Amino acid sequence: MGDLLEYRDRFPILAETTYLINHSLGAMPAAVEERLAEYARAWNTRGVRAWEEGWWELPLTVGEQVGRLIGAAPETVSMHQNVTLAEAVVLSCFGFEGERRRIVYEEGNFPSVRYLYQAARGAEVVVAPDDEGVVEAIDERTLLVPVTHVLFKTGRIQDIEAIVARAHEAGALVVLDAYQSVGTVPLDVTALGVDFAVGGSVKWLCGGPGAAWLYVRPDLAETLKPALTGWQAHERPFAFEPEQDYTHGAARFLTGTPNVPALYAATAGYDVIEEIGVERVRARSIEHTTLLIELLEEAGFEPGSPRQPARRGGTVVVKTPDFEAVNQELSARGVLCDCRPETGLRLGPHFYNTDDELRFAVEQIAEISQRGARAAAGHT
Ligand SMILES: Cc1ncc(COP(=O)(O)O)c(C=O)c1O
Repeated sequence: MGDLLEYRDRFPILAETTYLINHSLGAMPAAVEERLAEYARAWNTRGVRAWEEGWWELPLTVGEQVGRLIGAAPETVSMHQNVTLAEAVVLSCFGFEGERRRIVYEEGNFPSVRYLYQAARGAEVVVAPDDEGVVEAIDERTLLVPVTHVLFKTGRIQDIEAIVARAHEAGALVVLDAYQSVGTVPLDVTALGVDFAVGGSVKWLCGGPGAAWLYVRPDLAETLKPALTGWQAHERPFAFEPEQDYTHGAARFLTGTPNVPALYAATAGYDVIEEIGVERVRARSIEHTTLLIELLEEAGFEPGSPRQPARRGGTVVVKTPDFEAVNQELSARGVLCDCRPETGLRLGPHFYNTDDELRFAVEQIAEISQRGARAAAGHT
């Protein structure tokens, strides 16, 4: 596993900080600077002709690479601005007038996608406390089941197989948010049998903002007509016809002009993850998170992450006393992590972190916490 450290040089910020915030914003690969310069050169030198050199197709060509990382068949993944919009495209394929107008989702879904489904006109939203609750809540009135592979607050892996089995038995469709898994926890959308899957590039894929992806099950795709649509979804976009004529495959779910610079930047991160392979990233991640839990326990804390590696994503959470202040002081010391209400500090190591960085981070957390406790007791 030692050789994964050879990748450190490709991520300049690792020389400056203890970078443990990969569940939020993965480190930037140095290659991104060159990709963005390439984009600027194409625009500058080719002008409008740059569209003919792949700009228009980027949401699909980049989608092919994401497809390889998530076990999707060719031509099933399209790129969008963010996950919320990608799920809005999915939502816009359905009406909520009939008997089957329930959306069953889990409490731990990311707020942005919760807001989206809550706002779905005519839908009846049922919120389940956990993955088992989702399975119980699905019935013949359920149309959509938007769930999350790895919960953002706790890093817990959800039992998606059981949800897909129950949803399909009841005739409902599963929308999987894999943002916190793709790039660190293996995902095979085809084997899982999910109907839709979404994710972004900001976190474990180290691809930066503006490059979210949407997978649609290929046999289902041809039957859907998203209302959130545009000319990129047209069979003949450059005929500028007055009526929509949906094209086939992943392009059917596109909207308007793509986010070209974001798509140039994103693939630098995907290249590294593809080169290493998600299975290897996962093996290292389990070592890291296991070590972090041990170190935190030795320091007297109680991590809130699952002890079973099979249920644990890439992030370890720990509720230290006064964790917001601890997080601020860690940041001042160059240890980058974050915190969330309810779950406390979130520590998300990636393949390029060292065990010593984890030891250092936990030492700092312990020292800051003890100092805080001493100060509260009136000592200096
Ligand atoms: C699981 C999950 N879904 C969705 C999002 C946000 O998606 P977006 O901002 O791309 O809409 C996040 C961001 O933290 C997340 O962790």
